Amino acid sequence: MASSLEKLKGKMVQTTDLDGHDLPPSPAPSSPRNGRRYALATELVYTESNDQYNASSVPIYQSATFKQTSASGGGGEYDYTRSGNPTRTHLERHLAKIMNAQRALVVSSGMACLDVITRLLRPGDEVITGDDLYGGSNRLLKYLSTNGGIIVHHVDTTDPECVKAVLSDKTAMVLLETPTNPLIKVVDIPTIAAYTHERNANAIVSVDNTMLSPMLLNPLELGADIVYESGTKYLSGHHDLMAGVMAVNDIALGEKLYFTINASGCGLSPFDSWLLLRGIKTLGVRMEKQQANAQRIAEFLEQHGFKVRYPGLKSHPQYKLHWSMARGAGAVLSFETGDTTISERIVESARLWAISVSFGCVNSLISMPCRMSHASIDPQTRAERQMPEDIIRLCVGIEDPEDLIDDLQRALVQAGAVKVTLNGIEGLTLADGEAPAA
Ligand SMILES: Cc1ncc(COP(=O)(O)O)c(C=O)c1O
Repeated sequence: MASSLEKLKGKMVQTTDLDGHDLPPSPAPSSPRNGRRYALATELVYTESNDQYNASSVPIYQSATFKQTSASGGGGEYDYTRSGNPTRTHLERHLAKIMNAQRALVVSSGMACLDVITRLLRPGDEVITGDDLYGGSNRLLKYLSTNGGIIVHHVDTTDPECVKAVLSDKTAMVLLETPTNPLIKVVDIPTIAAYTHERNANAIVSVDNTMLSPMLLNPLELGADIVYESGTKYLSGHHDLMAGVMAVNDIALGEKLYFTINASGCGLSPFDSWLLLRGIKTLGVRMEKQQANAQRIAEFLEQHGFKVRYPGLKSHPQYKLHWSMARGAGAVLSFETGDTTISERIVESARLWAISVSFGCVNSLISMPCRMSHASIDPQTRAERQMPEDIIRLCVGIEDPEDLIDDLQRALVQAGAVKVTLNGIEGLTLADGEAPAA
């Protein structure tokens, strides 16, 4: 496997910056003169531009057109914002730097990324993907299989052998998500990427990195060809914009993606590009706090006997695999109560935890995926994919953890999910009949 990865890395385009450092394109010198590489937390906030007034915040070029200097259309770098805009370019170069990629592209939403990526496919092509996929991705793939002649295989991507079994000459794309959502299953990206490229050198491995963000995972370094994510989530962090981000190391592949963005007009608007750039600067501190809170809450629920799915818990069946790839556990977890009505009551009794789809926001959110984000997957398919209807997803924010736990505890009591005893609260439903953790 290692040798395949090495071969794959050898195929990546290498460039050096003006100082001779082997770094991705960036609007900022990504490394000090002594050659030491800045840490990601520094790169997130550090940008430089050639703005005429040295503006500290990159200006929003709210202009659809840019004047040309000759009748033949020559002149400046930009002519029309659908094709390119300075604010968007700055964001793309900043993202390429933090994603350690040769090229990053930004579009109007995470789903727009998948739309652009799947336009690489031709009728008859086969796609292999997971059985616990984000509902919107599932919907788009279903549309393509019904209307676009694409054959989609949903397999258990947590077992690389299941992917291997369906790989063929016709496989054009393998689409992965890790951890999956809401079942929080971990996918072995390096092994699947190696299997895929060994079987079919032309197949593209594409990874949806929305759950972890570039802060915690770099799929391109694990053998993926394309990484994309919903910028609506952690990158923006405030639920005040929609965006999608893609990154590649293969310049020719980047050009193909850019062609579709320019042709279809889904490039991110100048204002949203600016907002996203602002959000990215605080990604480090937000993620650190959100993860710490998520760990506390996962432990609290597990101690009270709930079946909790979170890669920060040693009880997670793929704990080691997750930590072999990622730098953190993220801030999304799910738990089961054993009863859909009780789950509904918990969700409706919480106050600090807002009932909302999505995740990655500074505010904590609670939801029932089968009723909300994954409702577009029909009940029969949900059952086939063993998605518990009672599952509750928590997307943890940056609030005080004691307040979050207090609010959750109150909701659990109010919903009848726990018993109140002289010693505190006690879970009613134990995970798979086991005794609660100490
Ligand atoms: C894992 C995952 N991928 C992609 C998307 C789609 O992103 P957007 O809502 O920005 O289109 C979402 C949205 O919830 C998601 O959770």
